Amino acid sequence: MTATILDGKAFAAKVRAQVGEHVARLKAQHGLTPGLAVVLVGEDPASQVYVKSKGKQTVEVGMNSYEHRLAVDTSQEDLLALIATLNADPAVHGILVQLPLPGHLNEDLVINSIDPAKDVDGFHISNVGLLSTGQKSMVPCTPLGCLMLLRDHHGSLSGLSAVVVGRSNIVGKPMAQLLLRDSCTVTIAHSRTHDLAAVCRAADILVAAVGRPEMVPGDWVKPGATVIDVGINRIERGGKTVLVGDVDFGSAAAVAGAITPVPGGVGPMTIACLLANTLTATCRANGLPEPEGLTA
Ligand code: GUN
Repeated sequence: MTATILDGKAFAAKVRAQVGEHVARLKAQHGLTPGLAVVLVGEDPASQVYVKSKGKQTVEVGMNSYEHRLAVDTSQEDLLALIATLNADPAVHGILVQLPLPGHLNEDLVINSIDPAKDVDGFHISNVGLLSTGQKSMVPCTPLGCLMLLRDHHGSLSGLSAVVVGRSNIVGKPMAQLLLRDSCTVTIAHSRTHDLAAVCRAADILVAAVGRPEMVPGDWVKPGATVIDVGINRIERGGKTVLVGDVDFGSAAAVAGAITPVPGGVGPMTIACLLANTLTATCRANGLPEPEGLTA
């Protein structure tokens, strides 16, 4: 069997185009321009690349981008003061604080100081609670992107067996909640799971979000299953730095029914969903109908 490649790059471009159309309509009909504030503390090279890319794509869909780059030794007090200012600013509809934060800052406290209505990452404890109780919330961008790819491929996910490998707050846990909401039978597996291979082999939908290069080989994949690879790992191969996922693509693609590549799978969906969330937050803040197909 040769798997269908789930092209996240092309799908993300479609999502961005849809977001752009909605933004143009908001401007023309309501004089509203969605605004996204991104806060970066310190100079972590990977975070700098992400933040630059977010700013560029925000402007490309017609939104306002507000970038706040703070020194690595910024105090908690100063960071919380900036967030309070952004919370109160009516031109800012979405706020994202890039993680990880330097060690002296309390990540939970910082995230929970963001107005939940502007929490486009969906990390605030209120949004986590709303998602887990099936209420309207802001949904974390990477799992939302995975869900969009799965719904597009399968139509209904109802009754399918889903295994999420990884239990992070950013991906694993919210991914499991979203799959449960779409009526999958969900298992969250992790590094301590007994016979992880057998657990994975039972999955109709296998989501790998562990951050370990090529950890999932093809013989952990049920024939015909859909494999979603969230990993983005830089490794040295043949004297070059290459990007690989958490799944061994070659062996998995020979068994799976469908699979996301790395790069070009889940990765591009994350920023597209951040823009979709900023649009959703803008609509909600102004009592306007939410864009269809761009939320969970
Ligand atoms: N760092 C890595 N992924 C993310 C993300 O989705 N949101 C934020 N804020 N920081 C991140």
